[in-house]
Amino acid sequence: MNIIPQLDLKAEYSEIKNQVKKRVQRFFESGRYILGQEVEEFEKNFTKFIGTKYAVGVASGTDAILLSLMAHNVKLGDEIITTPFTFIATATSIARLGTRPVFVDIESDTYNINPNLIKKKITSKTRGIVVVHLYGNPCRMDEIQSIAKKNNLFVIEDCAQACGSTYHNQKVGTLGHAGAFSFYPTKTLGAAGDAGIVTTDDKKIYEKIRSLRHHGDDGRHHAYNHIFIGINSRLDEVQAAVLNVKLKFLLKWNKARCNAANIYDQLISKISGIQIPVQTPNSRSVFHQYVIRIQYGKRDQLLTRLREKGIQASIYYPVPLHLQPCFGYLGYRKGDFPTSERVSNEVLSLPIYPQIKSTQQERVVALLNSF
Ligand SMILES: Cc1ncc(COP(=O)(O)O)c(C=O)c1O
Repeated sequence: MNIIPQLDLKAEYSEIKNQVKKRVQRFFESGRYILGQEVEEFEKNFTKFIGTKYAVGVASGTDAILLSLMAHNVKLGDEIITTPFTFIATATSIARLGTRPVFVDIESDTYNINPNLIKKKITSKTRGIVVVHLYGNPCRMDEIQSIAKKNNLFVIEDCAQACGSTYHNQKVGTLGHAGAFSFYPTKTLGAAGDAGIVTTDDKKIYEKIRSLRHHGDDGRHHAYNHIFIGINSRLDEVQAAVLNVKLKFLLKWNKARCNAANIYDQLISKISGIQIPVQTPNSRSVFHQYVIRIQYGKRDQLLTRLREKGIQASIYYPVPLHLQPCFGYLGYRKGDFPTSERVSNEVLSLPIYPQIKSTQQERVVALLNSF
């Protein structure tokens, strides 16, 4: 059977093979495998790409959120507002610090946190908001920034799925107090393993995360003087070497994703009963995922049918976080976030990646049509 994958990392690699090989060889020959030239160069390149003053390379997107929270001195019992419709790491990073994730339901069209529902959840314990630009589509940052400012809250952007997306022509990752990015291989900018970065304009946050990622040391070589209780979460040199190559291709790849999304939009909007993605006003998504929505009850049948025909569609995410076993202690129940619950039963991510061919997309849509 002719498979259409959800994404095709081999096709991506074939575009960059020679450059990656050269760069990785140079890395091996350098003999410097932790916090060397590649990481330093990537941090510089990434600040240029995103448009912040600073960036700190870390071991994963999860740690990028965790370290951003640690740098804001969150403490036991603090409350952090976030969305229940995201990847688990957004909320576990909050919970790991003894802070309490306080969920706020999503908008039924963009699937991002609903700014109109945030105010009601703010208490004297609320310290900040972690927003997630889900599938690449930016949140309504004007409203969120204004709520945060009025209530003296910090905003951390979970940009794991939105590397290159813009809001009012500004890249996400520049809009909050810190931006947390994942370079997990499937992301729009993916490493060859786990990797992440934090972006910020705040020098204090930058300096603190640089220290925290390296056991809280004071930055003096071989001084072994630790000013914070940190963790080991450095961006690997070898991952930075790969990312330095791939960052040069990102604009082109993101553009190709947007073109593919346009093709899907045009073809699928003709089919009744299927909702195409709705973009937040004044924003541009990089379409990390292309997510359609189908009437309750039909989604799982359609998924089975697509998979039978070799089309690798997926569900992100089938269970909202307030219903995850690990968050049972928070005391939420079914029905608490009706939009997230409903959407989790109706969304379906279609194959999308820069190298996807329009003929492959036509095959996907033909199947949707016949369904
Ligand atoms: C929204 C979101 N947040 C956080 C993460 C965590 O990133 P990582 O897998 O690099 O730890 C991911 C991706 O995996 C994600 O999609």
